[in-house]
Amino acid sequence: MALDRELALELVRVTEAAAIACGRWMGRGERKAADQAAVTAMRTVFDTINVDGTVVIGEGELDEAPMLYIGERVGNGHPPKVDVAVDPLEGTNILAKGLPNAIAVVAVAEEDCFLHAPDVYMEKIAVGKWAKGKIDLDAPVIDNLAAVAKGTGKNISDLVVVVLDRPRNADLIAEIKAAGARLQLISDGDVAPAIAAGINEEAPDMVWGIGGAPEGVLSAAALKCLGGEMQARLKPMSLAELERCQRMGIVEVDKLLQMEDLVCGEEVMCAVTGITDGDLLEGVRYRGHEVRTSSLVMRATTGTVRFIKAIHDMSRKPC
Ligand code: FBP
Repeated sequence: MALDRELALELVRVTEAAAIACGRWMGRGERKAADQAAVTAMRTVFDTINVDGTVVIGEGELDEAPMLYIGERVGNGHPPKVDVAVDPLEGTNILAKGLPNAIAVVAVAEEDCFLHAPDVYMEKIAVGKWAKGKIDLDAPVIDNLAAVAKGTGKNISDLVVVVLDRPRNADLIAEIKAAGARLQLISDGDVAPAIAAGINEEAPDMVWGIGGAPEGVLSAAALKCLGGEMQARLKPMSLAELERCQRMGIVEVDKLLQMEDLVCGEEVMCAVTGITDGDLLEGVRYRGHEVRTSSLVMRATTGTVRFIKAIHDMSRKPC
């Protein structure tokens, strides 16, 4: 069933609400309070939207998260029936420190189209449409860089590769350095750069390395809308995590996941609102009761990307 295109524009209200609610916590070091504000606002606005949604990527399992937990129904219960992937505050540490690129993000797809990824790590490689068909997670680093350079019409030394600055990504970082590509090491938040790679032809060119699996599914949903590509592999770090993957119905845990395994079909929509200033979106601006937000909305069926600036009069609305 085709999803009504109006839904995409409705989704932005959900990410705007989350961003407005948690943006006030910028730089205050209060990770939990900020996250709670984003989750509550997103959950509240979701229920005003004409959709019968089930959260498949959310705040965790029911025992860990009272709201937006995996399996929770969201929306006002009217058709269409969709699966929902959310991260009301992607970049909790970023916001707590007032750093760039914290975002609120939501994606929807037809039922059973998102990989039911538990909160474990995932090895990922992501590119925009310019390098689609050029990546192979199992190929040597140098081969991937050479293929992406060719696809984008650049030299390896021109490429900008975003990697989460973590010890687990140290070998990858060393190999990228040795190959001569440029690196952007980030402290947190690998979804925003994946979206930027899908939109900006200039940079970044790739997002690579081991980060969160739920964030991987959200990045894949955005890249599907943008015509980009991502490959991934789940990386459970313990037996308990492996069992969590299996409980979520993942049979072949070490399978190389292609776009269709991460997000299948073309009925995919995604909305993103900036919380702190970033490469693509401005963060939330407050002035008394007036709040300004900067968002983008995308649909895979058409590939249209809309940038939406909004001015909210908070004296007239409750969120
Ligand atoms: P949160 O917003 O949930 O804190 O996630 C931020 C994030 O940096 C993701 O963007 C990334 O995929 C993941 O955490 C990396 O996990 P870790 O901090 O454990 O390396």
